[in-house]
Amino acid sequence: MKIVLGPASKELGEKIAELTGIEKMPVASKTFPDGETYIRLEGNVQDDHVVIVQTTSPPQDTKLMQLAFMADAAKRNGGSKVTAVVPYLAYARQDKIFLQGETISIETIAHMLSVAGVDALITVNVHSANALAKFPFPAKSLTAIPLLAEHFAKRGFTKAFALAPDKGAMHIVEEAKKVLGGECGHLEKQRDRYTGQVKVAKKAFDIKGETAIVFDDIISTGSTMVSAAKILKELGARKVFAACAHPLLIGDAEKRILNAGVEEIVGTDSVFSSVSKVSLAPLISKELKALKSG
Ligand code: R5P
Repeated sequence: MKIVLGPASKELGEKIAELTGIEKMPVASKTFPDGETYIRLEGNVQDDHVVIVQTTSPPQDTKLMQLAFMADAAKRNGGSKVTAVVPYLAYARQDKIFLQGETISIETIAHMLSVAGVDALITVNVHSANALAKFPFPAKSLTAIPLLAEHFAKRGFTKAFALAPDKGAMHIVEEAKKVLGGECGHLEKQRDRYTGQVKVAKKAFDIKGETAIVFDDIISTGSTMVSAAKILKELGARKVFAACAHPLLIGDAEKRILNAGVEEIVGTDSVFSSVSKVSLAPLISKELKALKSG
C-alpha cells in the first residue's frame, strides 16, 4: 500500500502516512497558463494498492480533476487498486433531482472517478448516505463527530446541549450526545431551492444559562449557523459554539458566525481552514490500517 499525497490534502496525507507507517508518495502538480491541471506521481506504484488522499473543497472542479488524473496515473503505472480518500466529498448535496431539469451531480462525479480508475472511496460525514449509493464501487463514510465532541469534552464542556440545525442532522447530534452526555435536539430549516436562502424556525429548548454546541456536516456561507446561534442566544444559552466536519467558510462566514454570538468555531482538517482544530488523521489511519491488514 502507498499513500499518494494529493495536492489538496498534502498535510493530512503526511499525517496519515506517519500514523500508519505506510510509505508516502509525493505528487508534482501545476496549473498551466491556460488553467489546465497537470499531475505527476513521483514514485513507483507497480502492483501497489494506491491510496490517494485528496479533498474536494473549493475549487472543487480543479481538485476533482486532480483526483481523476492521479487515479489514472496510478493505474497506468501499474497500481493494482486505487482507493480515494476524499475527506470532503463535493457535490454530495446534489444526490437527487430537486427541480425538473437538474442533474444528479454526485452520480456524474462517481462515474467520472470510476472511469479514471478509482476502485473504492472513503469519505467523512458525507452529506447524505444516498450520495454514496450512486457510486459504482464501494464507497464508505466515516464520522468525525465523536472526535469533534471529544474536543469539547476535553475542554470541560460535557453535558453541553447538542443542536442540529435541521432534522436531517439529528443523527449527528445523537453521536455527539453519546460523548458529551447532555441533551440534544433539532431545529427546522428550510432552504429556498431557487434563491438558496435559509429559514430556520425557532423552537423552545430549556437551555437558559447552559452551553450549547451547534453541530453540522458543512459550514458553507454560515447562514445556517448564524440562524441557529441567534435562536440559542434568544433562548438564553450562556455560551454557543459551532462545530462541523467540513469548514468551507465561504466569504465572510467566519466573521458572520462570530458576530452572531458564537464563542468559537471548531472544524476538522477535511478542509484546511483557520478553524481546523481537529485532525482526521487518526480516524482515517485506523480505517487504512484495517484495510491493509484485512
Ligand atoms: C445542508 O443541509 C448542510 O447540512 C449544511 O447545513 C449547509 O451546507 C450549510 O450551509 P450554509 O453554511 O451556507 O448555511
